[in-house]
Amino acid sequence: MTQPKIGIIIGSTREGRFGDKPAAWIHSVASRRDDLQFELVDLRDYPMPFFAEPMSPAWGPVKNESAKAWAAKLSGLDGFIIVTPEYNHGPSAVLKNSLDYAYAEFVRKPVAFVGYGGVGAARAIEQLRLVAAELQMVSVRNAVHVGMVEFLGIWKQGKSFDDYPHLGQAAAGLLDELAWWARTLKGARAGAA
Ligand SMILES: Cc1cc2nc3c(=O)[nH]c(=O)nc-3n(C[C@H](O)[C@H](O)[C@H](O)COP(=O)(O)O)c2cc1C
Repeated sequence: MTQPKIGIIIGSTREGRFGDKPAAWIHSVASRRDDLQFELVDLRDYPMPFFAEPMSPAWGPVKNESAKAWAAKLSGLDGFIIVTPEYNHGPSAVLKNSLDYAYAEFVRKPVAFVGYGGVGAARAIEQLRLVAAELQMVSVRNAVHVGMVEFLGIWKQGKSFDDYPHLGQAAAGLLDELAWWARTLKGARAGAA
């Protein structure tokens, strides 16, 4: 089996976003592993309008060109790390919109979460787990929560992720679980084809 390929999705597109920092960090930590491949997937590269397709992508192909490119990108991936902000105790609208724009490309693949904000985006992540269940994804228990102290330290006080070793420990747990599920589900998908 070829190594599972994991997409690290940056869940914010706003000007001046913080999301680049945790995305680059988890990408660099993850890339030290030799059992998975990783690539950054930036929602800015897939500028999809608010969902207005005639039907759910669960029932038929999408028409929007960016959404077609998004689906093509997702179909080549075996799992996901979603790097998410928290907006009003939920995920960003652009991230939820991107999840609504595909279906089969998510099914029977694992997803893990890296969140940042006041409570490490815990509330947004728990909402995203419910969305993931409907998309038939396996949501990995271990998450990384970059909480207020670390968030402000990295954003405003010149600190780095390495100044907070518990984040590295959380990332290791997340990646171990993600690797198991990515291998297991990739093999199972291949066997079922
Ligand atoms: C519309 C909006 C709502 C927000 N709501 C929350 C929130 O509920 N919880 C929280 O921890 N931070 C909240 N914040 C602050 C974000 O954590 C902070 O702006 C962070 O940088 C957003 O991620 P981004 O810069 O990658 O977009 C909110 C920010 C915005 C723009």
